[in-house]
Amino acid sequence: MRELASEPSAPSLLAHRLTDDATLEALEPWQAAELAKFVAANKAHLDPWIPLGHVVHDEETAERFLRAYAERAARDDGRIYAIRSAGELVGGTVFRRFEYDRRTCEIGVWLAASATGRGLITLACRAMIDWAVHARGMLRVEWQANPANTASIAVARRLGMTREGVLRSASRLGDRQQDVEMWSILAEEWSSPQRLP
Ligand SMILES: CC(C)(COP(=O)(O)OP(=O)(O)OC[C@H]1O[C@@H](n2cnc3c(N)ncnc32)[C@H](O)[C@@H]1OP(=O)(O)O)[C@@H](O)C(=O)NCCC(=O)NCCS
Repeated sequence: MRELASEPSAPSLLAHRLTDDATLEALEPWQAAELAKFVAANKAHLDPWIPLGHVVHDEETAERFLRAYAERAARDDGRIYAIRSAGELVGGTVFRRFEYDRRTCEIGVWLAASATGRGLITLACRAMIDWAVHARGMLRVEWQANPANTASIAVARRLGMTREGVLRSASRLGDRQQDVEMWSILAEEWSSPQRLP
């Protein structure tokens, strides 16, 4: 694997401010070591709910994961972002799917357990939905969660999404088949770019 220069807490060239000390930023292949460290530190918190820790095991797999997203961003069919608090990587978000032809996309999220309870994901998702709807003309933004994932479902509800139902046994995480609760918001329901918490 080619050596990538990594300065974990280097200030970003481009960042969207979420709170006084938190930002939503690019997450790129050169930051693979930092992502691998984050996943290792938060595995127990993330593994029951999202695939991240099932595919990122070390720097090499983190780089592969981030390169795949970089290639998807170039094709405009997926994107990944970092959430930083005081410069430290504390979470992330993805457009897991970004299907311009169908004008639909899906958001996925994660936080370190220590960064929960501050509204960072809700704020980040609002910025992403604003961009998807207002800048890119998306007409539907989806959210999928395990029905047992109350924290995730609370975010969907807080974003003003509508619960559409449960896809039975529709997803596989590790060696477990699981139900998927489908939530969404449509462009016409997402009125203001400056929605308050
Ligand atoms: C899902 C997950 C990201 C939610 O994290 P979260 O911190 O609860 O979500 P938010 O960042 O939106 O914060 C909401 C909390 O902050 C509080 N809050 C504080 N300020 C807030 C603000 N300005 N805006 C919104 N909420 C705010 C809310 O009251 C809420 O707290 P509560 O749960 O005690 O009521 C997190 O639980 C996680 O990483 N889980 C593991 C991975 C996962 O399940 N991902 C989703 C898969 S579908």
